[in-house]
This record gives sequence, structure tokens and C-alpha cells, in this order.
Amino acid sequence: MRGFSHRSRMSQMGYRREDFTGKPVIAILNTWSEINPCHAHLRERAEAVKRGVWQEGGFPVEIPAFSITETYMKPSPMLYRNLLAMDTEESLRSLPVDGAVLMGGCDKTTPGLLMGAISVNLPAIFLPAGPMLRGNWNGQPLGSGTDLWKFWTERCAGGVSDEDWNAIESGIARSPGFCMTMGTAATMTSLTEAMGMTLPGASSIPAADSNHVHMAMDTGRRIVEMVWEDEKPSDVLALPAFRNAITVEMALSGSTNAIIHLVALARRRGLDLPLPLFDEIARRVPVLANIRPSGEFLMEDFYYAGGLRALMSEITDLLELDCLTVNGKTLGENLEGARVVKPEVIRPRQSPLMEHGGTAILYGSLAPDGAVIKTSAADPRLWRHTGPAVVFRDSQDLEARVNRDDLDVDEDSVLVLQNAGPLGGPGMPEWGMLPIPQKLLRRGVRDMVRISDARMSGTSYGTCVLHVSPESYVGGPLALVREGDRITLDIPNRKLDLLVPEEEMARRRAQWTRPVPKEHRGYLALYRERVTQAHQGCDFDFLTREETTQEPQIF
Ligand code: FES
Repeated sequence: MRGFSHRSRMSQMGYRREDFTGKPVIAILNTWSEINPCHAHLRERAEAVKRGVWQEGGFPVEIPAFSITETYMKPSPMLYRNLLAMDTEESLRSLPVDGAVLMGGCDKTTPGLLMGAISVNLPAIFLPAGPMLRGNWNGQPLGSGTDLWKFWTERCAGGVSDEDWNAIESGIARSPGFCMTMGTAATMTSLTEAMGMTLPGASSIPAADSNHVHMAMDTGRRIVEMVWEDEKPSDVLALPAFRNAITVEMALSGSTNAIIHLVALARRRGLDLPLPLFDEIARRVPVLANIRPSGEFLMEDFYYAGGLRALMSEITDLLELDCLTVNGKTLGENLEGARVVKPEVIRPRQSPLMEHGGTAILYGSLAPDGAVIKTSAADPRLWRHTGPAVVFRDSQDLEARVNRDDLDVDEDSVLVLQNAGPLGGPGMPEWGMLPIPQKLLRRGVRDMVRISDARMSGTSYGTCVLHVSPESYVGGPLALVREGDRITLDIPNRKLDLLVPEEEMARRRAQWTRPVPKEHRGYLALYRERVTQAHQGCDFDFLTREETTQEPQIF
């Protein structure tokens, strides 16, 4: 009777029995939406995927997935990554499908889709949305985010006219695709390829390039084969694949957000990626990608330079090449023949952008469970710095006071933002690149030490210590910082210390009271109860286990 019901409903949709009988059913999970400009082209790409699935003898079904859009979601799209992961897992588990194509790219969509796919562990392949074309203003290339922050700072300092500002606004995003700097989107799709979850070369192709359509069709063909071969995420995503992802992240000088996402992805596989592992790998991997915000070029240039395969071909001695990938070949086999054709964009090993250490993990009395800094985007003058704290208790306090002329701040001050972490935000918003106070901007100051439990846009830059764990909302030492306390940042020695005697800290701890949560219902209440800290990946505690959900009985 159940078979009758399924088949008659297929007939209702216009299919004949022979269209689907005996064929793998391929779910195309599509995060397209009319309010997600990074995915504006994914409806058309889904058609190309279907073409590939049909050609290879599969039966495609396109299924909408929660479209997390970085630009428009409040208070932070990070709040919803876990919801997309649950949507993905439950769609793939509850519907009668045999394999999945995961279509995403805008920041949180990549980890969200992958986390769900790992948990359900059906054959799955990722289709990166691809970066948008270079921005353009008066012939100058513009990079998403990075140039926004840069020109906004100059505008605040009085250096950009209304006319120029409007021209930059209409030139900075001029095609479908995700941010074309090495932000979280480009980083996460690159790492997904490095881990073996996309076809080789897929992550670097600009969204508007015809090769992106070809790649989509090839992805559709390959997922059908993967179903017959029963190649699952658990076959691809072993610990060496995650180590490769970290290595590539460091060579790209990728977004710090990737650290949280990789920890969360690994925990879905029952694997632990302790923060010191990121630091250990960073110390031996050179930064080769000369891409903004750490470098000069954009993702379109990266593609013309040979793309991710070319970059990986420069560091084969640092990668574990026998990892299986979704095309059924090893990473080493997929890198054969790859080479850099524009060494100014992908630097050769002998002249890297940085010798090593694009990202550092800090520990100390202010961050007992760790904190993160993107050293490649920080002013080397501030790598060792001690200064007095200027404390903002939350984002509203920051907004209200940071630009007041009577704010007691100078270039040696350390700006501290509290209550912006996973629970404090909530959702750990990208508030970690605290603005430089306007009175200092007018004096020519362009970087200062800034510390928070928030995240920072991968497109941003500055001496910003991020992801301080435990966060201030749960009573971490960051909650106990007071105005004028001296703080030491020592990147070479990986230290972040609050120079306050322990007796005084104990007194402050005894006086501290936990903020009262405002949310008592819905998803936010669930989030408040079950989300983990930054060093644990900010997943829900009940989703991190490796075992798959017991299939409920059906009748
Ligand atoms: Fe979508 Fe930047 S807004 S990737």
C-alpha cells in the first residue's frame, strides 16, 4: 500500500513509472532564496545538476533547505547554522532518498549542510556556489567586506564623499556568488574541497563562469555513481582529511570562523580537533594565497592563477595525500598536473606572503579555554602589547559610547567587548572587529588591540582577539575585566593575560551575577539551553554525537 501511495503521487507530478523505478533518488538540497544574493544562481544550477543526474541514470528531486543569508539575518546568521544542520539531517533521514547534492556557499550554509549530511551519513557531495566576480570602482578592484570596512573607516575619518560612497556601493557586488575575498565563504568552500567533499577544483570557479555550470552537471553525474558505490561522508571525512583542511586554511590565511566550523564538523564525526592543533599546524604552514584581506587579490584572480588545486600542489609535502575524495580518487591523484600560473596571486613556497602562522591560538588568564587571532591581518607593531582596558559591557554600550569625544581612550588602550559570545550575542555575532573610536581615527590611528568573545567577519582585518572562551555571559574572566585593568597580548608566545591579582579576581567573581536571558520560547530558547562554547564548535550538545538517529518504525 505504501508503494502504491508513493508511485501514485509520482504519477501526480507527471512522472511515469520507468522514470524512477530502480534508480537512485538524489536529493538536491538547495539553499536558494530571493533574499540570498550569494545563491541567486542556484535555481539554474539545480537544473544543471538534474541534467547530470538524469544522464547517469538517477532520479533527481530538488528540496529547499533553510537559506542562511549573511547580509540580511539578525542578530547573526551563526545563530541559525545549527538549524540548517537539523533541517538537512531530518530532510535526508525522513525522505526516501539515496544520496544528496548539497548546494551552498554563503558563510554558514557550507558548515550547516555538511554537519547535517555527516550525521545522516548518506552518500553526499557538496556543490560550492562559487565566488562573485571582482568588484569595481573607477577601475579599482573592490573586495567584499574588506573594502567596505576600509572605505567606511576612511568615510568616518572624513575622507570619502557621498558621491564616491554611492559609486562604491553599486560596484562592490556585481554578480551572483559569495564574497570574493578570503572570507568565511571562500574559506569554507575551499576547505570542503580540501577535505574531499567536492569535485576537484570546484570551489574556486566563479559563480558566473560557464565552467560553474559544467561543474554542477558533473556533480549530478557523480552523486549517482557514489550511491552505487555507497561512498559516504564517513569514508571521506576521517581525521587526516580534517588535518588537511586546517593546513589549507593556514596556507590561505582563511577566516577565523573556519576554526569553529571545523571543530563542529569533526565532532559530528566523533573526532576531536583541539585548538592547539590549529596552532601547531599554523606554525609550519606558509601563507601562500595573496588574497584580501591578508593579501592583494580576489577569488577571481585565484581561479585564473590555478585555483585551490594549484595552491595545494605547492604544499603536497604538508598534506596527507592518500585521503579518499568524493570522485573516488585520492587527494594526491586529484592534484596531479595542477600548477600555479600566476605566482603573484598564489605565491611559491620560496617567497610566501608569511613564513608561517596566519592564525594563532592564545591562552592565558583572560582566555583559559583559548582565543583566536588572525595574525596575518594584524599590525605587527601590536603583536606584543600591554595597555589599559576600555570596557564595553555589550554591543549597545559600544554603539552608545565608542565615538564620544569624552571616551577615555588612546592608541595604547585595549578595547574590550563583553557579552557577544555564543550565548551573550546570542549567536556569537561578527562584532569582534570593534570600530576604532572616531577621535583616534581623526588622529590617524588605524589599528588597536581589540578583544571580545565575538567572531569577526573573515573579510575583516585588524589586531582583533576573538572567540575568547569561556565567554563573558557564562562568567569567563572576560566578564570580570574592569576599566583601566592592564591586559597583555603576546602573539609570539601565544599569551593573553589580564594583569589583575588573583585575590581581586576572586572578589569580582563572587560579585558577578549571570545575565537573565530574555528568550523563553522557540528556537532561541533551545539555542540558549543547548549551544556549546566556541572552542567546542558552538554546536548543540545533543547533536555532536557520532551515532546516527535510530530510524523510527514505519507502517
Ligand atoms: Fe554571502 Fe558574504 S554575504 S558570502
